[in-house]
Amino acid sequence: MVQRKKITTLTEFIIKRQSEYPHAKGAMTRLLNDIATAAKIVNREINAAGLVDILGTVGKENVQGETQKKLDVFANEMFIGALKGGGECCAIASEENEKVISFSSDFAELGKYVVAIDPLDGSSNIEANVSIGTIFSIYRRLSETGGGTQEDLLQPGIHLAAAGYVIYGSSTMLVYTTGKGVNGFTLDPSVGIFCLSHPDMMFPETANIYSVNEGNYIHFPQGVKKYIKFCQEHDRETLRPYTSRYIGSLVADFHRNLIKGGIFLYPGTTKNPNGKLRLLYECNPIAYIAEQAGGKATNGEQRILEVLPRTLHQRAPFYAGPRWMVDKVEWYLREFPDKT
Ligand code: AHG
Ligand code: MN
Ligand code: MN
Repeated sequence: MVQRKKITTLTEFIIKRQSEYPHAKGAMTRLLNDIATAAKIVNREINAAGLVDILGTVGKENVQGETQKKLDVFANEMFIGALKGGGECCAIASEENEKVISFSSDFAELGKYVVAIDPLDGSSNIEANVSIGTIFSIYRRLSETGGGTQEDLLQPGIHLAAAGYVIYGSSTMLVYTTGKGVNGFTLDPSVGIFCLSHPDMMFPETANIYSVNEGNYIHFPQGVKKYIKFCQEHDRETLRPYTSRYIGSLVADFHRNLIKGGIFLYPGTTKNPNGKLRLLYECNPIAYIAEQAGGKATNGEQRILEVLPRTLHQRAPFYAGPRWMVDKVEWYLREFPDKT
């Protein structure tokens, strides 16, 4: 007899999960739905990018001093609009905005969550038709009244209520966690619905991929240089030499490693000791997902989720992947410290 397979939509799934939290009133469900709706619109625009004249830079620079692409601006506006309109979020920290966007005076009733977001990750890849993403972190606000504040957003990752990413790839997926495992949903573009396709995602037990921008090798810490050499050595038992894969979009690199088994590295360099990636809306959400998928994420010394953020856009060296792979990098960093 043919088994009937029921499709679970993202909305059904989060409503079902909500019932596992006795005091939940649906705010998180609505918030995740708002993010999914904005993601669908961003997805549509990304797909159309090759057809319409939306590519190219706006000419403005963001707070990191990088030139913004038109789609960065569009995605930023979409997510801010959806979160503001949805009413469950009282403040946003975005890669594209220097300061916290607080919804203070706009509504009588204010949401109890704050969101940190990289609206479009890997934007330098847009013009080459390569996978890009959105990364988000959700915290419960600390302040009790008025609009959300910077303090509400400067919480360590251990206090995350939820986190996730959207990958705009050969298919579009939304992957998220609320601390009870990681689940992935693939967008059916014909009906515009995210369907559960990857339940309970875990790093595979065997892994042999390393993802790092090796062009920066000369500037890496000694320990990372040694680790890269370790990856390249021949040892049949440990599947070495590993395979090197680097897309240049954190979401795409991490997602590939989560599915196929591999480690992502963005070390600090001599020029930029804290690397490139932003703690609040790149490292923390990916770290939360990595841990929930049975893996580990550190800055080389400390668990990423325990780093206390001091500023909205602060950067952190980042190593994420299967636990044993990250342990190995940490070992190399400890064994081969840089001379100061
Ligand atoms: P963004 O497009 O949001 O600025 O992020 C780009 C980031 C990240 O996605 C990726 O891992 C990293 O930049 C790649 O940096 P390099 O080009 O230095 O390797
Ligand atoms: Mn990014
Ligand atoms: Mn970005």
